Amino acid sequence: MKKDKLLELFNSLTLEEKIGQLVQLNPDFLNESDTVHTGPISSIGIKEEMIPYTGSILNSVNAKQIKTIQKEYIEKSRHKIPLLFMADIINGYKTVFPIPLALGCSYDFKLVKETAQISAKEAAVSGIHVTFSPMVDMVHDARWGRVMESYSEDVYLNNQYAEAMVTGYQGTNDPHNNIASCVKHFAGYGGAQSGRDYNTVELSKRTLLEEYLPAYHSAIKAGCKMVMTSFNTIDRIPVTANKWLLRNILRNEWNFKGVTISDHSAIKELINHGIARDEKEAAQKALEAGCDIDMMTACYANNLSRLVKEKKLDISYINDAAFRVLELKNDLGLFENPYRGADEDDEKKYILAPEFRSKAREAVEKSCVLLENNGILPLNSNKKIALIGPYGNSKELCGMWSFTVDKDNVITVKEGIEKYSNNVQYCTGSQILDDYQVVKELNSLFGQEFKNQELVDESLELKCAKEYAKDADVVIMALGEHSYQSGEAASRTDLSIPKPQMNLFKEIVKLKKPIVSLIFSGRPLILNEIKKYSDAVLQCWFPGIEGGNGIANILYGKVNPSARLSISFPYHVGQCPISYNFLNTGRPNTKENIGNRFVSKYIDAPNLPLYGFGYGLSYSQFEYSKVSLSSKKMSMDTVIEASVIVENKSEYEGVETVQMYINDVVSSVSRPVKELKGIKKITLKPYEKKKVDFIITNEMLKFYRCDMKYDSEAGKFIVYIGHDSLTNNEECFELIK
Ligand code: GLC
Repeated sequence: MKKDKLLELFNSLTLEEKIGQLVQLNPDFLNESDTVHTGPISSIGIKEEMIPYTGSILNSVNAKQIKTIQKEYIEKSRHKIPLLFMADIINGYKTVFPIPLALGCSYDFKLVKETAQISAKEAAVSGIHVTFSPMVDMVHDARWGRVMESYSEDVYLNNQYAEAMVTGYQGTNDPHNNIASCVKHFAGYGGAQSGRDYNTVELSKRTLLEEYLPAYHSAIKAGCKMVMTSFNTIDRIPVTANKWLLRNILRNEWNFKGVTISDHSAIKELINHGIARDEKEAAQKALEAGCDIDMMTACYANNLSRLVKEKKLDISYINDAAFRVLELKNDLGLFENPYRGADEDDEKKYILAPEFRSKAREAVEKSCVLLENNGILPLNSNKKIALIGPYGNSKELCGMWSFTVDKDNVITVKEGIEKYSNNVQYCTGSQILDDYQVVKELNSLFGQEFKNQELVDESLELKCAKEYAKDADVVIMALGEHSYQSGEAASRTDLSIPKPQMNLFKEIVKLKKPIVSLIFSGRPLILNEIKKYSDAVLQCWFPGIEGGNGIANILYGKVNPSARLSISFPYHVGQCPISYNFLNTGRPNTKENIGNRFVSKYIDAPNLPLYGFGYGLSYSQFEYSKVSLSSKKMSMDTVIEASVIVENKSEYEGVETVQMYINDVVSSVSRPVKELKGIKKITLKPYEKKKVDFIITNEMLKFYRCDMKYDSEAGKFIVYIGHDSLTNNEECFELIK
């Protein structure tokens, strides 16, 4: 619709109709039954007469239902403005990919973009208009369950993934192929104190600007159409009512023209935060701060009209927000076609297409991280296998945010391995958990029949496991946290693999058989014991519907693993939060300081993680030459070329992710000991070597100086190029200004 027509339509709306555009409800309120609930579903007390005005629907997820709702809504509506349908399509719709944290380990931005394109295709033909993705919260704390939804602990990677996901979702102009993206959770949600979800965030402004905000900005620069506000406070002001973030940064500095939406119930939660007496004050503060849509509370619906009539709220806030919503609907072509891509025939034709499944399999192969391997992998098909553990034949491989998946489509590890070997004996061996209460709550929310993995008889299972193990050449243990132990509202203080499984593992270890451990989790777990007693360890995350096939292709060598950790694996939960880009402190725990008590260290654990950022093995053996620089000096408008020769010293062709880090040795503020500034993925044939070049630019050296200007400073820098963040393959250079 042309803008003047849109304006005409807008000006014809009543105040209540405009306010309705700022309300988002789930389909329950429109009497739709099979709804997924993703937040507190207690009755929100919305005025009945406001419900028909609502402007968007949350988590309605199939073409038939969406078309029915849309049709009935438009027939009853005076203004005939179509509804927006938004949903959590996080790691795929029906073709479910590995969780985002797993994709973050691929270091393959093209692949990640392709997963978003496929998700967009399946979602678009199912009638969805907007996905609440990508989630690009910076994460440093594995206790926080939502690390599974983010991509990494690194600014550079999160920027790249944000752009890849947004362009993947929105890339084409074809309404049958694309959906709008909503970057979340703006801002700083991943900094929750103690790793406890929804907890307070205390960040310096410099850290917020330098580490936590860039990825949201990358999403917006890539054209992201919506921004979701986060539950947390920043500088003790809840983001959903934080003018500095929602107007100064988002609108004025970043020039974001799209729509903002609160997270689920977040506007009403301003009362709990203690900055609003009641829903009326909460509504006023959120709208004035710049939160356009109220997700699943009655604050806007029940109070905005009254606030205007009492002259406590300028109507321009409502007009600006409501017009932005209409512009988004117009941008999506809803006025021309309220059903957009929704098409039951297309659902049958495109959803789970073979090429989508093969992309999902490729994603598994490129996101499982090989953490240990003493040479036992790749396996030979004639080996007799005992496959033991609750994840050995489980279809629970898609993670907490995959309520649209049909689990019958999931390929289990057992099914994958049996494509290579007809000599596999499997048993569950133990329960996943010793107490299922903590995860049962979620099933009532997602409306799925909770299938207790409680076994008939654990002692019988253990007996069977030991028999199979004794009889096998190789034992494959498939262990991990429950898929509902990560994701939203799933913070843990104990990051170990659940006790029943560790008991099983220790019993099998006693049999002294070669052990390959497969780890399924939505976060880094503490793997010290697994590392100690396994001959190989593969971190499988929650790998999605092609999990079994992708994992088997790695185990049997059809694929040479290439993934690298995008998040640190702590040696102990007491180290959390932990990340590679720490500050040196005044008393660094360096080799020169060994024996000195008075340095920054623990007396009962190392400082370093068990597995560091960027780490990952392959079946190849890569060696690096020393770093060479085209010059030792650069100015603001010149560059330095930094290069290494990488050699594959093995008979396996493999992919190496060459990583370049930079340290600003002396500057007006303390700077991280390393910051990733670039990666290059190269494929090397057996015994092949290649020169890999990086260009160091002045832009890479910028930061928020002590005067808070974002710029570089003259002085000495160290560039590192290597296999992971622990590399000491370095060379110095100087920036002259
Ligand atoms: C949840 C989550 C958010 C999600 C939203 C809608 O509370 O915090 O990530 O997109 O509600 O389901």
